[in-house]
Amino acid sequence: MKIIMLGAPGAGKGTQAKMIAEKYGVPHISTGDIFRANIKNGTQLGMEAKKYMDQGLLVPDELTVKILLDRVAGEDCKNGYVLDGFPRTIPQAQVLDEALTELGDQIDYAINVDVPDENIIKRMGGRRACLSCGATYHIEHVPPKKEGVCDVCGQELVLRDDDKPETVKNRLQVYHDQTQPLIDFYTQKNVLRTVDGTADMQDVFAAIVAILG
Ligand code: AP5
Ligand code: MG
Repeated sequence: MKIIMLGAPGAGKGTQAKMIAEKYGVPHISTGDIFRANIKNGTQLGMEAKKYMDQGLLVPDELTVKILLDRVAGEDCKNGYVLDGFPRTIPQAQVLDEALTELGDQIDYAINVDVPDENIIKRMGGRRACLSCGATYHIEHVPPKKEGVCDVCGQELVLRDDDKPETVKNRLQVYHDQTQPLIDFYTQKNVLRTVDGTADMQDVFAAIVAILG
């Protein structure tokens, strides 16, 4: 099963992708998590990506596409995957489409997690992220068992650099300009399904499971 998560920054793509990955036994692939891991490890890629991420801008397609195509060629992706944060531009979607077509394959579902901008701004300040394993918490909605510590791997939780209110506004603008057109792209391919992302996260997940079967 090959799934794409679409939605604004903070819509809950990562939260739902993790649950999907667990239930259906496919890897959760987040380009944002890959970039953040590279930043943390001080790699060349991380330093390059950080310049864009800190401003709420997209990392250029040339950097992003190769990383993603290498990742989905991995042995663990044979039975599918859930992509979280990729594609984010029409050219990225086209490259993915071409790569899959060459393999006689295609995306099964593009799940659009729909949340209005007003809700997003409120959510982001409360988010805490683990930069080691990618787990995400919310100080009110999904608190960790011990404040400031990841339940999964025990590492420190942080407020992401790009979750400051000004940067969140830029990210929303970039989303509307560059990523929202993907909704039409996948509607035309007949694989787009929209869920109400303002619901409780278990209810959002139930709606997704009803779609995926
Ligand atoms: P990325 O890491 O993908 O960030 P994003 O798309 O901005 O999305 P987020 O991770 O912020 O939000 P999410 O939808 O995963 O929400 P979450 O589940 O955490 O990308 C970061 C940057 O990397 C980009 O800006 C760009 O620079 C670069 N990048 C990445 N991919 C790229 C690409 N393909 N091309 C170019 N550049 C790329 O939930 C948010 C919060 O809400 C959490 O606290 C959560 O606990 C809470 N929450 C979740 N669901 C609910 C609910 N139902 N009710 C209440 N609270 C909820
Ligand atoms: Mg995310």
